[in-house]
Amino acid sequence: MPLILGIESSCDESAAAIVDDSRSVLSSVVATQHDLHERFAGVVPEIASRAHTERLMPVIEEALREADVTLKDIDAVAVGHAPGLIGSLLVGVSAAKALAWSLGIPLVGVHHLLAHLHAPSLDNAPIDFPSLSLIASGGHTAMYRQDATMEATLIGSTIDDAVGEAFDKAATLLEAGYPGGPAIEKLAEAGDEKAVALPISRLRGNRFGFSFAGLKTALLYATRGNPVGRGRDSRFPRTLSDVTPSRRADLAASFQHAAISALVRGVDEAMQDAPVVSLCGGGGVLANTMLRDRLGECASRHGATLRIPPMRYCIDNAAMIAGLGGHMLAVGRTASWDLQATAKLPLGMQTS
Ligand code: KG4
Ligand code: ZN
Repeated sequence: MPLILGIESSCDESAAAIVDDSRSVLSSVVATQHDLHERFAGVVPEIASRAHTERLMPVIEEALREADVTLKDIDAVAVGHAPGLIGSLLVGVSAAKALAWSLGIPLVGVHHLLAHLHAPSLDNAPIDFPSLSLIASGGHTAMYRQDATMEATLIGSTIDDAVGEAFDKAATLLEAGYPGGPAIEKLAEAGDEKAVALPISRLRGNRFGFSFAGLKTALLYATRGNPVGRGRDSRFPRTLSDVTPSRRADLAASFQHAAISALVRGVDEAMQDAPVVSLCGGGGVLANTMLRDRLGECASRHGATLRIPPMRYCIDNAAMIAGLGGHMLAVGRTASWDLQATAKLPLGMQTS
């Protein structure tokens, strides 16, 4: 069975993996850069791409070592080439081209989001179709429907912020820590989700779309009060130090409840609209226990099987790239040497 080396560098994770036969993961190595971006409370693209140049080759070597194979055993190199931060993508694409060319083996260009949709089948059974997938991360919030592994239809997506980004901003506002998602989830444990009424987004004329910008502003006002004064003279009446610890926890819990409810409402309506047999998830926000539990309830309400992969395959990783790359190789969808790193590439319009 073809052995694929997968490479992923679209954001702030440098990752490499060896996958056999599209689903069997022999190794999956991820070097996060949280330490580098923490003091900026967000990913700094220049720092991310520089770190990839330092970390990617050691990560590839580690993936080969863990899988107990050498480069000579590899049948193809798959790389996430779009979408993502352009400087970061370029490092992975350049490394993949150099390796594939020097080894004389095929190069496969993989769409990062389509790879997320493939992740539930890693080390597991193939996904039964039709499926609905929710991808929720720091950069993406969207639902896709699939009838086959290599095709996906966008059902709806956020019109402004990604939900993970909203969690990160909420954590900055409440000084909860970085990355924001886990920090808000932890802070919310001590809070009451009904204490503060925050909006659960619903878009007119766009049933399956999401929006988190309004929620972010509502949280800001609930925390620091409605601004007084106008224009450049406007001021918030409170600072975070005026907010009691229990109120801070209530704000985190209420934010989490509103954000997760918006996601689950969208999923529920999409499943009602067009029944599916599998409900899948991917992206870092799927680490959230409330989201996982509520998606589980949603799947059973609709008679579907919940297919959320273990966290190591939910977050950005190269096993999903190698796995989908294996499928693409099998049907001859290899890339030419001029494969481009592309910052924006809507799913369904892949070029390679
Ligand atoms: O998929 P991911 O690791 O990286 C990309 O964004 O590409 O997702 C990271 C995002 C961050 O915004 C982080 O705050 C969020 O996922 N996240 C969570 C949780 N864990 C991570 N959001 C909510 N609850 C969590 N437990
Ligand atoms: Zn991702």
